[in-house]
Amino acid sequence: MAAGNELIYALPKKHDYGIGIIGAGGIVNAAHLPAYRKAGLNVVAICDINETAVGLTAKRWEISDYYTDYRKLLARTDIHIIDIAIPNEGRVEIVREAVATGKHVLIQKPFAYKHEQALEMVQLARAAGVKLAVNQNARFAPFYNVTKQIIDSGVLGELYLITHEMRINQDAVMGDTWFAKVPHFLIVDYDIHHIDLMRFWSGMTPERVFTSTTRMPGQNFASDMIALTTMEFANGLRGSLMTVDTTQSDDHFWRFTIEGTKGSLYGSIEDNYKFPKIKYSSKDKPDQWISPYIKGDWFSDAFYGTMFELMNAIQEDREPSISGKDNINTLNTMHSIIRSIEEKQVVAVMDC
Ligand SMILES: NC(=O)c1ccc[n+]([C@@H]2O[C@H](COP(=O)([O-])OP(=O)(O)OC[C@H]3O[C@@H](n4cnc5c(N)ncnc54)[C@H](O)[C@@H]3O)[C@@H](O)[C@H]2O)c1
Repeated sequence: MAAGNELIYALPKKHDYGIGIIGAGGIVNAAHLPAYRKAGLNVVAICDINETAVGLTAKRWEISDYYTDYRKLLARTDIHIIDIAIPNEGRVEIVREAVATGKHVLIQKPFAYKHEQALEMVQLARAAGVKLAVNQNARFAPFYNVTKQIIDSGVLGELYLITHEMRINQDAVMGDTWFAKVPHFLIVDYDIHHIDLMRFWSGMTPERVFTSTTRMPGQNFASDMIALTTMEFANGLRGSLMTVDTTQSDDHFWRFTIEGTKGSLYGSIEDNYKFPKIKYSSKDKPDQWISPYIKGDWFSDAFYGTMFELMNAIQEDREPSISGKDNINTLNTMHSIIRSIEEKQVVAVMDC
């Protein structure tokens, strides 16, 4: 773990962009604002339709200006980046108006439930000449990001199998929130992280998917909360996701394995986000495992990671690695998974 306030990602050369946040809910308070404070970023104002929530959040994080109408936030010329962290409804309108004022946008996952909405937001940003990044923060969660660096170093060779397993229980703690009513919640809201990770790690979008889901008798969520997904990639790579969000045990964990032609990597986060561990070995020395020290935590280091990536993309005038355009492939995979569940068959992932 990173000690104290040590940043695990390098501060962008310019990092004093004025940030305006839309949404003062759970994730903004738990992760966005702690991350931005740790990185010393310039949060200028915040907006939420819930006056109590936005007032309390502004007070807690010492943000001098807050609004209940996002247009007041968009009207400010000292805000350069809009950080959207609201549920799906209303996002397209906000993005349309934000990019029209020349502001760049970071938007929470899932980028959009509907393909047309995602496409429209990408086109709006492109036409306005601003950057649009999707807050797929798992890519910047330290244990997942270090794994990507190990893959990219070539030490594992060509990848042919990736597995990811998660066991937690949001059904117990979020059963009375709006999340519990979202159709296919487990896929669109949680597995979207793992779907995107598979693309991040492999550098590819799967060609075909098959997903089977089930539910715990008596569970709270409308959505099935157990999902088993198989992914087929072009070059023989296979991926597997096992996501269980109803476990009745108190042993909550994330575990993943990666097999390549030159080596193997095993990763785990045990006991409720604690003890992240990665180890890998090569076929030349299969008994010698290397365990890199993993600095930092998903909450909140990953959340300045995504913001830094957007800031770097702005000043280098390039697409963010987490661009809306790239994310359309993550959404296509998500939609194919939903079709697979509904039609009980293997589904080809739409190419674009
Ligand atoms: N790891 C992660 O990246 C992560 C974790 C949790 C949530 N999320 C995502 O973040 C988003 C928000 O989740 P949350 O847990 O903070 O939800 P939440 O319900 O706690 O907060 C959402 C807030 O948005 C406000 N809001 C809704 N519509 C608005 C609008 N048009 N204008 C201004 N404010 C509006 C609501 O009043 C509420 O305060 C969701 O898309 C969720 O999937 C991401």
